Amino acid sequence: MDKFRIVGGKPLIGEVLISGAKNAALPILLCTMLTKDKIILKNVPNLRDVNTCINLLKILGKEVTKLDTNTLQIEGLVTNKVAPYDLVKTMRASIMALGPLLAFLGEAEVSLPGGCAIGARPVDLHVKGLKEMGADISLTEGYIKAKAPNGRLHGANIFMDKVSVTGTENLMMAAALAEGKTIIDNAAREPEIIDLADCLRLMGAKITGDGSATIEIEGVANLHGCVHNIVPDRIEAGTYLVAATASHGKIICKNVNISTIEPILSKLKSANALIETGDDWVCLDMLDREIHPVDIVTAPHPGFPTDMQAQFTVLNALASGNSLVVETIFENRFMHIPELIRMGAKLKIDGNSVFIEGTSKLTGAQVMATDLRASASLVIAGLVAQGTTIVDRIYHMDRGYECIEEKISKLGGIIERISS
Ligand code: EPZ
Repeated sequence: MDKFRIVGGKPLIGEVLISGAKNAALPILLCTMLTKDKIILKNVPNLRDVNTCINLLKILGKEVTKLDTNTLQIEGLVTNKVAPYDLVKTMRASIMALGPLLAFLGEAEVSLPGGCAIGARPVDLHVKGLKEMGADISLTEGYIKAKAPNGRLHGANIFMDKVSVTGTENLMMAAALAEGKTIIDNAAREPEIIDLADCLRLMGAKITGDGSATIEIEGVANLHGCVHNIVPDRIEAGTYLVAATASHGKIICKNVNISTIEPILSKLKSANALIETGDDWVCLDMLDREIHPVDIVTAPHPGFPTDMQAQFTVLNALASGNSLVVETIFENRFMHIPELIRMGAKLKIDGNSVFIEGTSKLTGAQVMATDLRASASLVIAGLVAQGTTIVDRIYHMDRGYECIEEKISKLGGIIERISS
């Protein structure tokens, strides 16, 4: 398993180009199953999860061609209804094959994804919504087996008991080809939802309200091909901005959609970072500036993103005072805390909160990544710790951060991949 070897103490200085958003690319790749026509996707991040999703599309019958590292051409009829366990267990987002397969083929068999490090990650809301759209669904041998009576789903008024990003996306895709109108209430409002809706509209779908809590989809008979640019990754941008703040550096992030990172910028300004923004860039200056503590409560967008919780926990550990971080989305998203404590952070977990005593001096150590964003927090900790840090199981990083060691090295950080 690959490791990162990081030598801490260097401020991150320079320019970083932000890649396309993993959490937009995954549903958009899967929505290509809603047509046989050619779809060109640009600004697709070259990530482990994206390559897993490409493999899934190929298993389901799609022709996927890499025109270049970040441009994909997808076409052809989906012919296979089964998303297999061996693949789904490596990427939970595969559950979003359910909606498109049901909508286009009229049937689907998708392995239940199972839990992951950060929580049980149930998919009951996905299933409930599809049942309300007429699907006959059973759970047998670990697979969700679904059929649309007469081969086509019908519109429905669906209330999401909880705000669910991929639940909203799965139902949007199913509704795009359903008979009649679907209303999704208490829908997720993340920017990746809007990017999926933009792509579906380019394909001929009739969708309004995306980005609000109520999304309306008027089903159509067919969808066609399109060319779509994946929205920049707001979490990747936020991660580099936190790393620059923690290391007292000065960076400019390019290819950023500013409106999607407002919740993150607001907290960074409270942490005493100087921030300037342009059309598609953000400059953060933390040279010789003290880090102020910021209290965090994660929430669905436009609240503070849970995917930035671990990164801000590290920043708070370095701050000039105490703070409190509350995780309201997932039940087990503190796996990074014991590792950070081993590096000298003064953290105390109490239920879904962590109390952080600031002004920790972190020291390098051997630590282990447990999930994607926890691993990002360990890399940030390594970049600011005294001495050398070895981060193990960095395949978690490769799922969501494109060319991370190249991008950090270009900013002056000392990081190298050790393949073992
Ligand atoms: C998406 O996961 C993201 N993944 C996650 O990013 C992100 O952390 C999460 O949304 C929250 O923003 C992708 O978009 C591929 P949810 P998702 O359904 O859709 C509960 C990363 O690091 N729930 O919005 O799986 C669930 O347990 C990843 O990039 C149900 O109870 O999350 C959680 O408590 C990690 N039943 C809450 O809702 C359901 O059927 C929100 O989960 C579905 C969800």
